[in-house]
Amino acid sequence: MDKFKIIGKSRIAGEVTISGSKNAALPLLAAMLLPNGETVLHNVPTLKDTETLVKLIGGMGVRIKKEANTVIADARTVTNYYAPYELVRTMRASILVLGPLLARFGEAEVSLPGGCSIGSRPVDQHLKALEAMGADIIVENGYVKAKALKGGKLIGCDFTFDMVTVGGTENTIMAAALASGTTRLENCACEPEVVDLANMLVAMGAKIDGIGTPTMIIEGVDSLHGCEYSVIADRIETGSYLAGALMSCGDVLTKNTTTGFLQPVLKKMQAMGAVITAGDDWIRAVMKSRPKAVDIRTQVHPGFPTDMQAQLMAVCCLAEGVSTITENIFENRFMHVPELQRMGASIKVDGHTAVITGVDSFSPAPVMATDLRASMSLVMAAACADGESMIDRIYHIDRGYENVENKLRGLGVNIERIKA
Ligand code: EPZ
Repeated sequence: MDKFKIIGKSRIAGEVTISGSKNAALPLLAAMLLPNGETVLHNVPTLKDTETLVKLIGGMGVRIKKEANTVIADARTVTNYYAPYELVRTMRASILVLGPLLARFGEAEVSLPGGCSIGSRPVDQHLKALEAMGADIIVENGYVKAKALKGGKLIGCDFTFDMVTVGGTENTIMAAALASGTTRLENCACEPEVVDLANMLVAMGAKIDGIGTPTMIIEGVDSLHGCEYSVIADRIETGSYLAGALMSCGDVLTKNTTTGFLQPVLKKMQAMGAVITAGDDWIRAVMKSRPKAVDIRTQVHPGFPTDMQAQLMAVCCLAEGVSTITENIFENRFMHVPELQRMGASIKVDGHTAVITGVDSFSPAPVMATDLRASMSLVMAAACADGESMIDRIYHIDRGYENVENKLRGLGVNIERIKA
């Protein structure tokens, strides 16, 4: 497994261009199965996860190719509706092909994604919603086998999610877009990535009201046409690089991004003492002193995003005072705590709450990445430690941060990938 060798102590400063959002690109790629035509999708980040999904969709007979950051897919030639475990297990979001396949072809066989280090990641809400739309679903041998019983079509219905689920909302609106009749969904996720998906579906001819609100009404249409669309900027990548400035009295300018999606994170950064300025497509964080302690509770959008929890924890580790972070979305998203402790952090975990007592600095150490966002918290901690750190299992970071070494080097981080 590749490792990162990072030699600190660096002041994280400079300009970085933000890529398309991983968590928007994945549902948008799945939605390319829906139209009876060709779709062109720009600003798709080159990541392990997007490559995996392109491969999965290509395996279904779709003519799909990725040229730089543009994906072109022609879904007129779908020959099978099968998503194998070998691919799904490496990229859980592959479950997002279930809704489109069922809606368009009336059948699908998709491997259950399984859990990951941050939680069991069930998909019961995805299945309940599709069953409410008339799908017959059997789960056996680790696969979801689904059929639309009424003449191969799903039927619009009223459905309320038991809890807010990003992927569940995304799968369901893609299915409802081609269902017979109208679907009224309550308790929907309002994350910007869900909005991006709904906007592309509308560009394909879907009829959706309430985009960006907890209640969406989708009037099914007979078919969708292709379109040309561009993935929104990655708000989590943006916040991850800005966090580096707060940890090192740095100055980071993120370009090709947008402030609209990051307000709760930017407000916490300002509370920690960062000077945040922003324009239409850029955000800058300047830190002139040691961060101040804050309290953070992760929530569904527009609350503080769980995907920024590990990165802000790394900032809290260096803050003046005692911070608390409560993780309300996933049951096991503190895997970065023992690794940060190895680097000298003072953190006590009590259930879903971590209490962080700020220390003057991190100390270099060999550590292990445990999940995508934890990896970036360890990278920034290593960059702020005085000496050489090695970070193992960095395949996690390759899943979600495009061109990560070059971007970090551009911000003053002394980083080298050690090939396995
Ligand atoms: C998406 O995951 C993101 N991934 C995650 O980002 C993100 O952390 C998460 O939303 C929350 O914002 C992608 O978009 C590819 P959920 P998703 O369904 O859709 C429970 C990253 O680092 N739940 O909103 O899987 C679930 O266990 C990743 O980029 C059920 O119980 O998240 C979790 O506790 C990590 N049953 C909570 O809901 C279900 O059927 C939120 O999950 C579905 C979810």
